[in-house]
Formats: sequence, C-alpha cells, structure tokens
Amino acid sequence: MGSLPLFPEQASTIAPEVDHLLYFLLAVATFFTLLIFGAIFYFAVRYRRRSENELPPVVHGGMTLEILWTVIPFGLTMVMFTWGAAVFFDESRPPDDAMQIYAVGKQWMWKLEHLEGQREINELHIPLGRAVRLTMTSEDVIHSFFVPAFRTKQDVVPGRYTTTWFKPTKPGRYHLFCAEYCGTKHSGMIGWVYVMEPQDYQTWLSGGATEGSLAENGQKLFTQLACDNCHKADNQGRCPTLVNVFGSTVQLTGGGTVKADEAYIRESILSPQAKIVKGYEPVMPTFQGLVTEEQVLQLVEYVRSLGPKPAAGQAPGSQALGNQAPGNQAPASKAPAGKKSAPGAAPAKQ
Ligand code: CUA
Repeated sequence: MGSLPLFPEQASTIAPEVDHLLYFLLAVATFFTLLIFGAIFYFAVRYRRRSENELPPVVHGGMTLEILWTVIPFGLTMVMFTWGAAVFFDESRPPDDAMQIYAVGKQWMWKLEHLEGQREINELHIPLGRAVRLTMTSEDVIHSFFVPAFRTKQDVVPGRYTTTWFKPTKPGRYHLFCAEYCGTKHSGMIGWVYVMEPQDYQTWLSGGATEGSLAENGQKLFTQLACDNCHKADNQGRCPTLVNVFGSTVQLTGGGTVKADEAYIRESILSPQAKIVKGYEPVMPTFQGLVTEEQVLQLVEYVRSLGPKPAAGQAPGSQALGNQAPGNQAPASKAPAGKKSAPGAAPAKQ
C-alpha cells in the first residue's frame, strides 16, 4: 500500500478478500464513530441547560426512531456475518488440487516437509499460482503459523492436525511468524516463505539432496517397526490391510464409522485402542514415544500412497488393478492384485 506500510503486501488469492472485508468494517466503524461523537457534541450544545430552573419537556420515545436504530444495525451486522462467513469458508477449505506440505512446530522453529522429501527449517519454498495445503502439528506447545502477506493464520496444536492453505499470487519473499506466545524465544520463531516461478521451484526441488520421499521413508519405517507383520497387503494379517484405506470410510467395532484421514491414521498409530476396525481384535501396541511427529507424517504419507488415488474415479464394484497403483511413489511390492475391501467398505471379516 504505497510507501506507508499500514498493510502488508497482498500476495495470495485470499488477501484481497480479507482486506475488502476489513475496509468495510473500518468504514462502518468510522462512520458510526463520527456520527455518534458528532451527535454528542451537537446535542450537548443544542439542548444545554439555559437557566437554573429550566425543566425540559418530557419525551415518551418515538417508534420510527426505535425501528430505525434496530433495523439498520441488524442489517449491517448480518452483512458482516454473511460476508465474514464466506471469507472464513474460503480460508478453511483447501481446493482439491492443492499441493500437500507438512509443517511441524517446535520450540522454537518451523520444520517444513515436502512430499518429495525436501525438508526445510524456518523456510518454505512454494511455486507461484499453485494452491498449497499445509497440514500442521506441534511437538510441544501451541504455536501459530502466520503469513501476513497471505492473510492466513492458523494455530498449530500438539496432539492433532490443523490445516491451512493459500495460493500465492506474487513471487517474492514473505515473513513467516509464530503468532502464539510459546515461550522464551517465541519472537525468534520466524522465517520466510519464498514464492518462486514454477520452473525455479522445480529447479529448487531437484536441487536439494533428499533421503527419499516422505512416502518412501514411511514405507521403510513401516518395515522397521514391523508394522507389516500384521498389516499385510493381502489382508490376511491379524490387522486390517492399509491398501485403499486412506480417504475411505472405516466401520468400527461397536458401530459407527470414521473417515480415514490424517488425524485417524495418526490416532491409530499413537492410540491404537481408540478406534478398533470392525472384525479385528485390539492387539496393536501404541507407538507413542517411539515415533516422532515427523515419522508419523511419513507413515501417514505411506498409507496415503497405498490408498486410492484422489483423482482416480472409483471403479464401481471390482477393484481394478490400476486403482492399486499407488500414486507417484512406488511401494510396488505392497500392491498385490487380488481381493480387497473396496474403499468405503469395511474390511471383510476373516
Ligand atoms: Cu511458536 Cu510462538
């Protein structure tokens, strides 16, 4: 905004929306502040007491006035409400084609992980014009991921996943803050978001050495922790297969269902007794304390890579082989042909 930096730059699709709403709120507030203060001064002078024994006439209210000062504020606040709700829903719902990035907050740094395996600390590189969905958690206390230029701020809470998203509209470097007081070095928990031209981003992505994609690391971990002893790909193990589970609706023991999203996978790793898949025994030990939040994210990504491809249309009835091909990653050995519970159905009883 010119040379007077009252507002941070607008660098995401949501930023103008948020600002327009704010301008409207400011305009309404300014108008009524001036109106009320003007009226106070005007009435104070106009109806001042002119002599010691002056008695003002008794006024018994006015219906027109009462209705006006009820209906007008009501209308204005309803405009604020619907407008605000619309912006809120926009901010809350990442588009389906958003690219996934994970963030872990920790006293006192931001750790960011790309699906391809690149890890960053207090820096986030993203391509211009692409919606980015951040799934975030904390290793210790509550933090808050705040990028003023994107007009997004979201709490990052230990023990659960929160998400935020933005679609950058301008290349550049933007401040990243922690916006929740989280201890001594809260003010130092800052960083930069780099919005790059798509080809520069590709160059950047291929530049850094990585130790495999998140899903690949998740697969290694899955084997190391011996998860594959029970969760067998052919669904002959003591525990449900994880093939095609991600995104599906899971039937639970004791009735009820749960959507197999990131939060459910995380809970099943750390508190496996919380929700038991229908037809299975609660035999899984907890991995609380054995895996870090970052490793949980790798496992989540591995399970996602086993799941139905998000874009693929679900073949009715039979599970086509193509549906098994796990995304871009290649846990090929884990994707056998054969009968499988369809996504959306409970694993068959043994
Ligand atoms: Cu993290 Cu304040």
